[in-house]
Amino acid sequence: MGANRAERNTDQRRQQHDGGERKPVNNRLTLRPACHRDAELLLAWRNDPSTREASHSTAMVQPEQHAFWMAQTLAGADRRLMIAELDGKPIGTVRADRSQGCWELSWTVAPQARGRGLAKRMVAMMALQIDEPIRAEIKTGHAASIRVAESAGMELEREHDGVLHYRRGARRTS
Ligand SMILES: CC(C)(COP(=O)(O)OP(=O)(O)OC[C@H]1O[C@@H](n2cnc3c(N)ncnc32)[C@H](O)[C@@H]1OP(=O)(O)O)[C@@H](O)C(=O)NCCC(=O)NCCS
Repeated sequence: MGANRAERNTDQRRQQHDGGERKPVNNRLTLRPACHRDAELLLAWRNDPSTREASHSTAMVQPEQHAFWMAQTLAGADRRLMIAELDGKPIGTVRADRSQGCWELSWTVAPQARGRGLAKRMVAMMALQIDEPIRAEIKTGHAASIRVAESAGMELEREHDGVLHYRRGARRTS
């Protein structure tokens, strides 16, 4: 048996038998609001090289800056910061910033959880929770995020200065 398969089996056993109780292994993806306890994890994801490369600001974020940003974010009514969890473990984040009646979405998946379709699932879930129009800005050539935006129902509106502007109109709820 290969090492990966052995690890997978051990993980499954660990999840199924916790203190003698059987727990379901169901790959359930959920979104919950972020809180101060998530600050360290969010900073690590933000400073991951791929995340920095995809961001408008590519500089490393310092802990003090991040603490200030978290406090502002959690207090603001026009910003929703969510943590996506797979079977209760944090695997990514989606943020929505409201401006002029439209929510701008941005997203990051934890480096070790990438390539499993999780960004598509979590961003589509977030998009379904917002009835007002949504938008996203994606650097040209960022193929994965283009697929993510399209899966959430957004369409390319325009390209400007190496940035693709994606948008979905208001969601019809009836
Ligand atoms: C971009 C990112 C969110 C993608 O997360 P992920 O969970 O790996 O994405 P998914 O597995 O849902 O894949 C989404 C789609 O992109 C495709 N894809 C993934 N990586 C790709 C790559 N490097 N090149 C081309 N396509 C890619 C997948 O095949 C999938 O396409 P599909 O519709 O054919 O299935 C993740 O890599 C990340 O967090 N990067 C750093 C932060 C970032 O770039 N944020 C977005 C800023 S706009």
